Amino acid sequence: MPATLDPADPAFARDPYPYYAGLRTKGAATRVALANGTHAWLVTGYETARAVLADPRFSNVPLVGAGRPRADSPARRARACLARHMLNQDAPGHLRLRRLVTGAFSPRRVDALRPRIEELADGLVAQVTRQLADGGTADLVDAFAFPLPVLVIADVLGVPEADRTQLREWTYRVGSPADALPPGAVEEAWGQLHAYFTELIAAKRRRPGDDLFSALVPGLDGDELVAMAFLLLFAGYETTMNLLASAALLLLTHPAERAAACAGGPLDWAAVTEETLRHASPLEGATWRRTTQPVDLGGGVVLPERASVLVVLAAANRDPQCFAEPDGFRPARYAGEGRGPAPHLAFGHGPHMCPGARLARLEAAIALPRLFAALPPDVALAGPADSLPYRPGLLVRGPRTVPVR
Ligand code: HEM
Repeated sequence: MPATLDPADPAFARDPYPYYAGLRTKGAATRVALANGTHAWLVTGYETARAVLADPRFSNVPLVGAGRPRADSPARRARACLARHMLNQDAPGHLRLRRLVTGAFSPRRVDALRPRIEELADGLVAQVTRQLADGGTADLVDAFAFPLPVLVIADVLGVPEADRTQLREWTYRVGSPADALPPGAVEEAWGQLHAYFTELIAAKRRRPGDDLFSALVPGLDGDELVAMAFLLLFAGYETTMNLLASAALLLLTHPAERAAACAGGPLDWAAVTEETLRHASPLEGATWRRTTQPVDLGGGVVLPERASVLVVLAAANRDPQCFAEPDGFRPARYAGEGRGPAPHLAFGHGPHMCPGARLARLEAAIALPRLFAALPPDVALAGPADSLPYRPGLLVRGPRTVPVR
């Protein structure tokens, strides 16, 4: 086990699980040195992860928002503004925003997106099959897993079509460790995103649309709207992109599970989605928490006040105490009658639990069966699965490409 954890290390990004399994044997939380010179307490066991996510002694307010403002450049100011979203807030401010979002993302409103998602998925799948015709290759991330959620969230936000690829790039940058990109690239992207959303919201106020985001406009002030648009984009598309990409990759590398899903019905596809969420959790870590007082996690582990804490959802979802054969991809564990496994934590737990889970599941339920029904039966990965590049960082995890032919 390395003395220092480097989240930008490609080998770690591809397969962080052995490292997390090692940490899990050491206790409820382990203090780890990170490559950027800071330290963090990593929580890798299921029970402690649930407990921490529901414990109000862990704050979501980041230092930049909680301490002295350090907004000494336009990019810093932009970042501080975008970062003031609900996932970075504690009760009671968080509750007010949360109520607005859960109202806007009601089951009725989300389910009403079905015909549009079906239309988008059909168009993308047709494009994939065209690319594969006559022996060509297709990248299932570029042609399918990326565009679907970005088009859906762009619909939700009312973002014009021409701007969507640019948004993807900025979002990718602000979610990457600063040392994984050219100097200044992350800061610059914060500024660009801020300027973009400020303009989008001004246009929305002038001419309200029929998008779901417009339902939030009356309840929020200008800065809150900009931060909310950013959060929905960041939380809503990259996670779902990784869910779709990982599900496709897992099915391509597990022929028996693929055959069972293709021969089955909606419940079997739902099981594929749940098992992918558990096995390849798109949000590797929950967002950073900080202790507001010393916290005794048991077993002699006491976190000091102001400790940075990362609940590693991906690791909790492979805790052998809760999941038999945790490293295996077994959709059947979610398809059986009666007692299933413990609920996975891919959508989090406690007050910040994902309000977009229904939308993410709907996208997967529509898109995955369509994709696999259309792919030729002999379609295969165009390269070895264990050399695919993965996104660097501790927050978001998924393959950057899934090339097939
Ligand atoms: C597979 C897809 C998704 C996964 C795995 C996922 C996962 C998560 C997780 C783990 C959290 C809690 C993070 C924490 O406690 O630090 C969260 C929060 C959130 N998610 Fe998702 N999410 C997904 C899709 C979506 C979608 C489609 C939307 C909306 C369009 C969305 C909107 C949000 C929002 C607004 C929050 C913040 C909630 C709060 O602070 O109360 N997510 N998500």
